[in-house]
Amino acid sequence: MITKKIKITERMGGVKKILVIHGPNLNLLGQREPDIYGKVTIGGINSDLKKMAKAKKVALEIVQSNHEGEIVELIGRSAGKFGAILINPAAYTHTSVAIRDAISSVKVPTVEVHLSNIYAREEFRHTSLISPVAKGQICGFGKMSYLLGLEAAIGLIGKR
Ligand code: DQA
Repeated sequence: MITKKIKITERMGGVKKILVIHGPNLNLLGQREPDIYGKVTIGGINSDLKKMAKAKKVALEIVQSNHEGEIVELIGRSAGKFGAILINPAAYTHTSVAIRDAISSVKVPTVEVHLSNIYAREEFRHTSLISPVAKGQICGFGKMSYLLGLEAAIGLIGKR
């Protein structure tokens, strides 16, 4: 009898790698509006994400970009390479049809996160163009939004 070995990742129907995207100005965390975003730095967020990923046995690719087109291209190339996307689109949340279209084009399950509670801030931040094409959104918990988002993204691997 021939038994066929199926890799666990194949059985789950996906790649166990998650693409993490930090949008514009998030490179400035730590110095940027600390009353809103706290003292947390992007390095601090990334190191906690990496620790969690290691414990949960998933791989991460982490990118920060201040350029909309670059984010669109990253998402556009993500199909088949990543099992899920975790994104803080930052200011592009409220303006970018291009990032929204990229997410709905590739169909890689996506979790949207924000450090601040965007619904408790200026009215222009109350609208997310990304949420309708994301699996869900987590906001308002500072660095914890990312960790909760990663947990959600791990749960979504292999699901569309
Ligand atoms: C943000 C909220 C956005 O409104 C803002 O433009 C950001 C950061 C957050 O993480 O709270 O740059 O995405």
